[in-house]
Amino acid sequence: MFARSAARQLSSVRQFSSSAARNTNVTVLGAGGGIGQPLSLLLKLDPHVKRLNLYDIRGAPGVAADVSHIDSASEVKGFEADQLEAALEGAEVIVVPAGVPRKPGMSRDDLFSTNASVIRDLATAAARVAPKANICIITNPVNSMVPIASRVYEKAGVYDPKRIFGVSTLDVVRATRFLAGIVGQDPANTPVTVVGGHSGETIVPLFSQQAAAAGITGEAYKKLVHRVQFGGDEVVQAKAGAGSATLSMAYAGATFANALFRGLAGEKGVITPSYVRSPLFESEGIDFFASNIELGPNGVEKIHSLGELTAEEQEYLKAAKDGLKKNIQKGFAFLE
Ligand code: NAD
Ligand code: LMR
Repeated sequence: MFARSAARQLSSVRQFSSSAARNTNVTVLGAGGGIGQPLSLLLKLDPHVKRLNLYDIRGAPGVAADVSHIDSASEVKGFEADQLEAALEGAEVIVVPAGVPRKPGMSRDDLFSTNASVIRDLATAAARVAPKANICIITNPVNSMVPIASRVYEKAGVYDPKRIFGVSTLDVVRATRFLAGIVGQDPANTPVTVVGGHSGETIVPLFSQQAAAAGITGEAYKKLVHRVQFGGDEVVQAKAGAGSATLSMAYAGATFANALFRGLAGEKGVITPSYVRSPLFESEGIDFFASNIELGPNGVEKIHSLGELTAEEQEYLKAAKDGLKKNIQKGFAFLE
């Protein structure tokens, strides 16, 4: 189960918890962008962060100067385009929202050719400069970018599958929020586990595992699942060419990072979904899969099985696996 809901996690960030040890060096790659800026702001507020390095091919020093005036204790530094290695020096957690976002009419897969090179190059530098850091990939298509980064680390001889994460938290945030809206409850009390991957049909919310969703059946259930699977499109269309989700994603990214910080600091029972190297469907040729994982000092401590699924969820899972297989193969093929 989800140890702490997304909303509860953020409220602990907001309270500037004094119990958290400020001991993690964090680097954001893509800090000047639509996600990168608010994400950097939220990381500046996180009590676990000791040092925050902000890198982008444009604009990071300005973002860093701005964020650095916030009166929390972490130190913030900005880096120019030619300072990638310096930005990664000493990083323990690297968060990556670098790359192009969708416009209306595009799929996440349409971003592949541009973003694959971005992830390849950033992962190559990270593997060289900070090979033991935990890397959290937000860049789309996440389903293919995580295999690419993993292969880069493998080729560099420093691959630790426990430290590479695809950030699928926005799906959890959406499923939780949409369900709470329907049943009229506080989202803090309706956390939903979402498994599979991060795009359309590969996103599988497990509403059967959340008691608050028990009364949602038939067409209403299908509509809710569809809204979670295609919530990203809702934002892309509403932004009408100005990009995709940035603010909710910054929140989701900061929430996932906070869970990772707590796990790294030795807190027990920090469990949240993430798209990682996974044994769950490896025998079917699916090397990466999002499911609940327990975070700990070494990154992924434990990968949870999916638990019991309804017949409908089994059907959704089948479609997800078909999509994932193709996305993962495409990622691997990029580096052949
Ligand atoms: P954006 O265009 O606003 O920002 C991207 C930033 O990346 C820009 O500042 C750009 O200069 C920078 N960048 C590009 N190449 C770089 C490189 N080689 N090194 C460093 N920085 C580089 O886009 P955005 O809205 O912030 O979205 C970023 C990515 O996140 C997109 O791929 C988007 O699809 C993805 N995204 C993922 C999720 C998710 O749930 N995982 C949610 C929303 C968006
Ligand atoms: C999302 O789910 O909002 C992101 O993956 C961005 C997108 O392209 O939809």
